[in-house]
Amino acid sequence: MVAVESPRERTDAFLEVRNVGKSFGALQVLKDVSMSVAPGEFVCILGPSGCGKTTLLRIIAGLETQDAGQVVMAGQDISAWPTSKRGCGIVFQSYALFPNLTSAQNVAYGLHGRGKDKAAVQSRVKEMLALVGLESTANKYPAQMSGGQQQRIALARALATEPKLLLLDEPLSALDARVRLRLRLEIRQVQQRLGITTIMVTHDQDEALTMADRIVVMSEGRLAQYATPREVYGRPADPFVADFVGAMNFLGEADVVGEGQVKLGAATLDVDPERLDGRASGSVIVAIRPEDVRVGQDAANDANRLATKIEYVEFRGPFFRYGLRVPPDAEGREHFIEVDVAAKRAEALPHEPGADIEISLPAHRLHCFDAPVG
Ligand SMILES: Nc1ncnc2c1ncn2[C@@H]1O[C@H](COP(=O)(O)OP(=O)(O)O)[C@@H](O)[C@H]1O
Ligand SMILES: [Mg+2]
Repeated sequence: MVAVESPRERTDAFLEVRNVGKSFGALQVLKDVSMSVAPGEFVCILGPSGCGKTTLLRIIAGLETQDAGQVVMAGQDISAWPTSKRGCGIVFQSYALFPNLTSAQNVAYGLHGRGKDKAAVQSRVKEMLALVGLESTANKYPAQMSGGQQQRIALARALATEPKLLLLDEPLSALDARVRLRLRLEIRQVQQRLGITTIMVTHDQDEALTMADRIVVMSEGRLAQYATPREVYGRPADPFVADFVGAMNFLGEADVVGEGQVKLGAATLDVDPERLDGRASGSVIVAIRPEDVRVGQDAANDANRLATKIEYVEFRGPFFRYGLRVPPDAEGREHFIEVDVAAKRAEALPHEPGADIEISLPAHRLHCFDAPVG
């Protein structure tokens, strides 16, 4: 297992959010949120719509004031600082360019009145347009550019003033799928080239997994997990994270019957003792990702085997998704499990509904979550 530092232990943080709380009237939008961001790090705030992502970003930017907690930048409490003093570059979902200004004028906008002469402004604008690959659009107006181009101009404008912190709020979500994929890569490359500390809000798990150094997963105003993409995907902290990031089969509550063993209905399953966190009794929720289940011949000699029947098979291009029914056991417990099988591998398997297929649930791939109390 890869050791991952706890975010709270990082002492080299560039930005720290400490125990921030925020309510709008009776609605508590942020609850005791703490996170730290290292210099040059790219952090994504990921969560469903309405969970408080934008509010958190606006508090960091100084566009909103928290009710509790602090925002600390480079060791200094900036909670009371106005937005202008915080030196953040901000890009929002809507391109928010000035429609009556050309692309070059938009990028130059924040540079005026900073004691730069005209030539210095012009050279900086040129540099920024080159950075986002849009030198050729210098004299175009926003209406003459595509959504993707406008958003790259918005990024160039945000970066022109050399902000210490770049804040992005769903910058890609208004763009079509292809452009979104390309811009993901471009934003990440620009960010790495400049080494600029960046926080990006998104509700798109793929975006967060592909772009971030670390992901803050939020649920209803709380921080559910703060870890690397691999850790969030491979070791989700709770069922919410497991379900929100990637696909997960929840097999239900099981009794812990020993170190590394659980009883799920009538079936006794081996689990990785580490996943039980030292528990030798009590109950846990057992879960497994569709791609981690083994099928057919691969499963024949494994532990944790289950006999199933095919309910459906979906073609997904590179893989097939099998919907499998585990018939009721001696205790009347039945399960439904989705399994992803690589297309090549699936050629050797039955596809017809009703056909028998054996699966195994590899012990080291089973997740064990705290069962809800009560
Ligand atoms: N200025 C505001 N006044 C009242 N309620 C707000 C305000 N801003 C956000 N909210 C509410 O706070 C919750 C979180 O909003 P937001 O931070 O925008 O979520 P997200 O960005 O995750 O979709 C939502 O229920 C939203 O309606
Ligand atoms: Mg939002």
